[in-house]
Amino acid sequence: MTQAADTVVPFFRRGNYAPVHDELTALDLPVEGSVPAELNGWYLRNGPNPRQATGHWFTGDGMIHGVRLENGRAAWYRNRWVRTESFQKPFPVYNADGSRNLHSSVANTHVIRHAGKTLALVESSLPYEITNDLQTLGAYDFGGKLADSMTAHPKICPTTGELHFFGYGNISEPHVTYHRADANGELTVNRPVDVPALTMMHDFAMTAGHVVFMDLPIVFNLDIAMSGEGDMPYRWDDTYGARFGVLRRDDPLGEIRWFDIDPCYVFHVANSYDDGNSIVLQAVRYPELWRHNGGFEVEAVMWRWTIDLAAGTVEERQLDDRGVEFPRIDDRLAGLPARYAVAVGDGNLVQYDLKTDAAQEHRFSGEPGEAVYAPADTGELTGWYLSYVYDPVRDGSDLVIIDASDFSGEPVARVRLPQRVPHGFHGNWITD
Ligand SMILES: [Fe+2]
Repeated sequence: MTQAADTVVPFFRRGNYAPVHDELTALDLPVEGSVPAELNGWYLRNGPNPRQATGHWFTGDGMIHGVRLENGRAAWYRNRWVRTESFQKPFPVYNADGSRNLHSSVANTHVIRHAGKTLALVESSLPYEITNDLQTLGAYDFGGKLADSMTAHPKICPTTGELHFFGYGNISEPHVTYHRADANGELTVNRPVDVPALTMMHDFAMTAGHVVFMDLPIVFNLDIAMSGEGDMPYRWDDTYGARFGVLRRDDPLGEIRWFDIDPCYVFHVANSYDDGNSIVLQAVRYPELWRHNGGFEVEAVMWRWTIDLAAGTVEERQLDDRGVEFPRIDDRLAGLPARYAVAVGDGNLVQYDLKTDAAQEHRFSGEPGEAVYAPADTGELTGWYLSYVYDPVRDGSDLVIIDASDFSGEPVARVRLPQRVPHGFHGNWITD
């Protein structure tokens, strides 16, 4: 590709960011090494696979790539677009009067399992329910109770089984609403979160006792929203400031306490937990983003904020200087002091020991995506990390399985997939 073409075609149209065209089903996949017999379930990962040549990386039609592991073999691979109502007959998220159509969805960001339902998520719409073999069932509104979009980063409390989430994107107030469903999927809490303006709120944090909202200075831009170009309608604003809002889980309709922090942007929280009178929040932090356009020229690094609820102060500290994204932990420790997090770096995965602030790398000759932890028993290191890894030499992808206790060692298995898996966003290991 020439230099000129390189600057015209955005990164998310090139290399392994480019979409694939076929929906395939392949059975009994070849494996190099051996698939651990303990892994019985589905690895499902979502990401944009646009049918049109316009728009932002975040606005492409969602496609889920799934692998079924069963009794030491890789039983199948499938990839399917999420067939939302707007996928089949396009209509925009924002109506002419500024209200939203919550059925308009690219459903491209995440896939979770809660209360017996598998949901494909994007933050601008209702969830779309799918089957674990990737058929789309339809929009899911909690039995008619949810009249809001749902973040693509809900948190499942490992102690109560509750699903904590929020919706945002209303041009009129409330811009943000906190929601909670119980372990049976019954929606039990809906409450507005007061913020000065509509900002891009991609993720939030949950501890055993609190939820934390991140009101950061990437602010809604109506001109971009109405341009019809499909760009993300948010830009950096030097005047907005930045703050965390803390809500007690045992008083969900109570006061939200706001704590100012240094301006920054965070797409992804690794984890958060209560520590005495403090809340520790570990996340991947950008010093600034989207000042002039919706690009990704700035690197983000692991960071730690400690919110002192008694003193009313926040201490901030950088944990590491490697540029990373897509941090994940053992989700059974969500909201608790998990020791390990794994994030995607440049041709590597980085495993952080959050207790000692040490880190080690697993380096690939290819390009890994988000790594999800699949446990064998109760331990944080006694399972495996699963990640789709693209090999540019053969223009193909593997599902790579890494022993969590031998992080930099050879993978225990590479499952050969029948086509490349474009770089995408998030996924989960769903067990039988
Ligand atoms: Fe995300």
